[in-house]
Amino acid sequence: MSGAADLSSFGLGSDSFITVLTGAGVSAECGIPTFRGAGGLWRTYRAEELARPEAFREDPRLVWEWYDYRRGICAGKQPNPAHHAITRLDEKVSDFLLITQNVDNLHGRAGTRRLVELHGNLFRARCLDCGAVTSDLPVPLPEIPPHCTCGGMLRPDIVWFGEALPEKAIREASEASRDCDLMVVAGTSAVVQPAASMPLLAKQAGAHVIEVNPDPTPLTPYVDLHLEGKAGEVMPGLVDSILELTSP
Ligand code: APR
Repeated sequence: MSGAADLSSFGLGSDSFITVLTGAGVSAECGIPTFRGAGGLWRTYRAEELARPEAFREDPRLVWEWYDYRRGICAGKQPNPAHHAITRLDEKVSDFLLITQNVDNLHGRAGTRRLVELHGNLFRARCLDCGAVTSDLPVPLPEIPPHCTCGGMLRPDIVWFGEALPEKAIREASEASRDCDLMVVAGTSAVVQPAASMPLLAKQAGAHVIEVNPDPTPLTPYVDLHLEGKAGEVMPGLVDSILELTSP
């Protein structure tokens, strides 16, 4: 699947606002396991068991060990053609926003600058006492659990199950979903809220929605175009097609 697509009926132009919503599938080709795919277990734990405030309260060392394991995996991977294609949109489209559920930092490492990280970032930690956010902890961590310069314990700067998303991130993402002309939804199972409802917000507000996924999802019946395939194979051609229509 090349990703080249006929978008001529979408009415896109140089003033179009383009958004992209990504999930774990965009990083799957880098060798980072998705959440709901096969191989989602660490030791005997599922992500849903460890990515919880109660799990951290009960055993901060265990939860940090899991996050440090994941930091190690992600730090050793490189962005793939899907990440780079999204960066081309960021560089070339005047009105653009990437909304990502991914915490692996690969979009940032690929150079995408206009992005909202709905679920936080594995490479940031936040102090439970003073609230300071740090992004320069070594990989792997020399001390688990890590501590802030103030002496307080750090937690991963990640949104856990049962926690509210950062207000600013959710506001920016929702506004962009309502205001955009096109949303490309790539590599997400579209089951975790509120991200899952963003394409529907976009659709209700009149945007076109394109889904890129090797499998159908609950969103598939509502999209204008489902491009069946891997993000790394589909996104470069799709981005070419979008840029052809939106370049001044
Ligand atoms: N290209 C595109 N999509 C892919 C690829 C690929 N190469 N490989 C797998 N996929 C698709 C799968 O078909 C699936 O629909 O990516 C999706 C991955 O779904 P999930 O594992 O559920 O990941 P995601 O949607 O990002 O999960 C949302 O759940 O646990 C939380 O916080 C975590 O951010 C995560 C959220």
